[in-house]
Amino acid sequence: MATPAHQWPTGVALALQPRLALLDWVRDRDAIVIEDDYDAEFRYDREPVGALQGLAPDRVIFLGTISKSLAPALRIGWMLCPPVLAEPLTEQKHLSDRRTPTLDQLALARLIESGRFDRHLRRMRAGYAARRATLLAAHRGSTCSQRASASGTARRTGGGGALGSC
Ligand SMILES: Cc1ncc(COP(=O)(O)O)c(C=O)c1O
Repeated sequence: MATPAHQWPTGVALALQPRLALLDWVRDRDAIVIEDDYDAEFRYDREPVGALQGLAPDRVIFLGTISKSLAPALRIGWMLCPPVLAEPLTEQKHLSDRRTPTLDQLALARLIESGRFDRHLRRMRAGYAARRATLLAAHRGSTCSQRASASGTARRTGGGGALGSC
């Protein structure tokens, strides 16, 4: 199991070389890797990364979800798997849960086909990016004022202090 687009909790995206190394490792063992692509829609400070699945469709089971992009309560996700696994996995899905509600899936399909899901993503990307920028600016501000106050204390007591980028 891997989260190459956004490792949790560090947020690191797996670069190409480690991706290729992971796929070599998987091939050497005649194994399969499950790619949990749970929030690749939202990138703010780097280019979007492609899916591992695209590099080795025969070795990767890709899991997508709308939990981060739309609503976790809908409980809708999807799987792209090597064709040979499609039937057994479908069978397991039928046996292991009570199916995903059909109406919700049809509504989501309509949302995607109409282009409104893409519009929603673009709008949320911009909204989240603005919130993120506000949070970072506030954090920088509070870090700077903490440093300034620590530096003032240090100066009063004869110690040194660096404000860094503040
Ligand atoms: C690592 C990881 N994978 C997947 C998901 C999405 O899970 P689900 O689609 O079951 O809501 C989450 C949600 O927070 C997550 O943190």
